[in-house]
Amino acid sequence: MGAKFFVSRYNSEVDAKAHLQEFTVVVPKGATLLDCLNIIKWEQDGTFSFRMSCRSAICGSCAVRVNGHARLACKTQAADVIVDGEVTIEPLGNLPVIRDLIVDLEPFWESLERVKPWLVPDETKKFDRERLQSHHDQLKIDAASTCIMCGSCYSDCNVLNVDKMFLGPASLAKAQRFVFDTRDSEKEARLDFLSQVNGMWDCTHCAECSTRCPTEAKPLERIIELRQEAVNSGFTNNNGARHVLGFRESIGGFKGKGGGGMLNENYLPLRSVGLSLGGMLSLLPVGIRMIMRGKNPPMIPHIIDKIGEVRKMFRRFDEYRKEGEK
Ligand code: SF4
Ligand code: SF4
Ligand code: FES
Repeated sequence: MGAKFFVSRYNSEVDAKAHLQEFTVVVPKGATLLDCLNIIKWEQDGTFSFRMSCRSAICGSCAVRVNGHARLACKTQAADVIVDGEVTIEPLGNLPVIRDLIVDLEPFWESLERVKPWLVPDETKKFDRERLQSHHDQLKIDAASTCIMCGSCYSDCNVLNVDKMFLGPASLAKAQRFVFDTRDSEKEARLDFLSQVNGMWDCTHCAECSTRCPTEAKPLERIIELRQEAVNSGFTNNNGARHVLGFRESIGGFKGKGGGGMLNENYLPLRSVGLSLGGMLSLLPVGIRMIMRGKNPPMIPHIIDKIGEVRKMFRRFDEYRKEGEK
């Protein structure tokens, strides 16, 4: 099968911006995308540059954007991504490009370092040999431990696209791995740090990271686990946690407060910013704009007809969750 490969070419020393170059490749049966990149490099243009090492989806170095989405080139069958005889291959997003498909991973490593991706054991505890972990406890960190640091999630994260200070999906998945590690002594400090601005609550749940992740690390799922752990551990004095709790109170009630079965859009913003003058003042401009355009929600919150059913659902969910925690 012959296919047109449009690959990104860029040399930071001479080019003002990247451009796509077309190569025609006769794709061998069963070839991976990485095989095809090698055909281009070895048979057509030796200056074409990209990273690879293991060719077995282990080292994480061959991640590139294929038709606009991050993938491991060595784990992708070329036939699966060639559409109408064409495929476009570009470097990972959210990272500066050095040359062709090679990106500068420094921002990725820097964000990782911020979550202290190493075990901090309690040195006051003495062990005869090693710090053992039960199978049950190991399972809590199993998924995050499969991350191969490929950067695919970082590349396609929508929040990082607009805010480079966001910790990002891979770092948050790595943080989950240490927060849930029973041998680590810094769980509280970690949750405190992750609850701050640019941390776990800045994720918008777009799920792009989990969709692109080639392993079981699935960052969004790890972020959800971190958030649950933070709320259960009392780290609720921040906009993100207050927003989630306020959402729940508004819909179904919480700790004796009765929700109305619908989102109360007057309550939620105030609940999210908490009892701070600065926070409330920050809501004023948008509030005024809404009133001027007649978009402000009704002052008396609406209660849906079958509110009893909704509250019952929430009660049953709480019982179910408590069962799961036993
Ligand atoms: S789910 Fe969150 S962390 Fe993952 S890509 Fe979307 S915004 Fe980024
Ligand atoms: S979480 Fe998944 S996509 Fe992100 S770096 Fe790790 S393996 Fe790659
Ligand atoms: S070459 Fe190692 S993951 Fe693809």
